[in-house]
Amino acid sequence: MSKVYVFTGYGGPETQQLIEGPVPTPGPGELAIEVRAAGVNPADWKIREGQLGRHWSLPAPMGREAAGVVTEVGDGVEDFAVGDEVLGLVAPGQGGMAEHTLLRASTTVAKPEEISFADAATIPVAAATAYDATHQIELKPGQTLLLLGAGGGVGLMATQIGRVHEFTVIGVASATKRELVESTGATFIESGPGVADRVRQVSADGPDLIVDLVGGDALRAVADLVPDRTRIISAADPDTAAELGGLALARTDEAMAKITEVIQYGLVDPHVDAQFALDQADQAIAAVETGHAAGKIIVVP
Ligand SMILES: NC(=O)c1ccc[n+]([C@@H]2O[C@H](COP(=O)([O-])OP(=O)(O)OC[C@H]3O[C@@H](n4cnc5c(N)ncnc54)[C@H](OP(=O)(O)O)[C@@H]3O)[C@@H](O)[C@H]2O)c1
Repeated sequence: MSKVYVFTGYGGPETQQLIEGPVPTPGPGELAIEVRAAGVNPADWKIREGQLGRHWSLPAPMGREAAGVVTEVGDGVEDFAVGDEVLGLVAPGQGGMAEHTLLRASTTVAKPEEISFADAATIPVAAATAYDATHQIELKPGQTLLLLGAGGGVGLMATQIGRVHEFTVIGVASATKRELVESTGATFIESGPGVADRVRQVSADGPDLIVDLVGGDALRAVADLVPDRTRIISAADPDTAAELGGLALARTDEAMAKITEVIQYGLVDPHVDAQFALDQADQAIAAVETGHAAGKIIVVP
């Protein structure tokens, strides 16, 4: 038997619970893993609330990204074998917050020895998103990237990727995250009323690109800083981005492998801020659901 954290109905955290079920068996193109760590993302509670559709069959396992050790491979899987250490996106109907889960082989990569399971669990969703967000429109060294939501799971890695590329990075976050954002080499700007004026004080010509990880009014407040609105990319709120003339983040298949290498070489730190046991997954999800996480939160079975 295997423990798995699920939600049993669309709604609030009261629908979440830890249940026990059979160890899942991989179908064609899938891998079974013993989970060592699972990343927690805003998508987990957005799915539970029904914000991303209501097509999940209930009870629905929670957690989209995981790292662990392969225990079984499904038909047609050639690149992985039992005992391999891997990281990847969970297969449909599966969740990372579990003792055992299934990954899709096509969205799984080998975990390099240099990367801990804890850090590896942040790669398939958060790190890969940070990679895509900083590569969709290529800036040149010295150009200015403004990151809205710079202190969160995706934001903190995106600021570091920006610095690796020698962009000038302006990170907008709340005052409590000043040191964290500055530790990446970014210029910190406090979020909230007057944010656009504070950005203008450090970047008279305005940024060359805005990457939005917050959306809504926070995005509207900075949108005028770029003369060309197609220089706004949003991972958080594609509707508001489109309304402003910007773009939705486009995810790519290659991002996971590319950012794994970058993290392996120590160029980006996923910054795991807190780890919770599987029976404390409610606390892990709640910490992300506040919308004010600092870096990444993971669940360790
Ligand atoms: N499209 C995709 O494939 C994809 C993939 C991953 C994530 N996402 C989305 O991207 C967004 C960020 O994800 P994440 O994992 O980084 O979330 P996260 O870890 O919860 O971080 C969100 C950050 O936003 C900051 N924030 C909240 N209000 C703000 C404001 N008014 N101004 C500036 N910062 C503000 C919060 O910190 P403060 O305390 O500083 O406010 C927090 O650090 C989410 O909406 C998520 O759903 C999309």
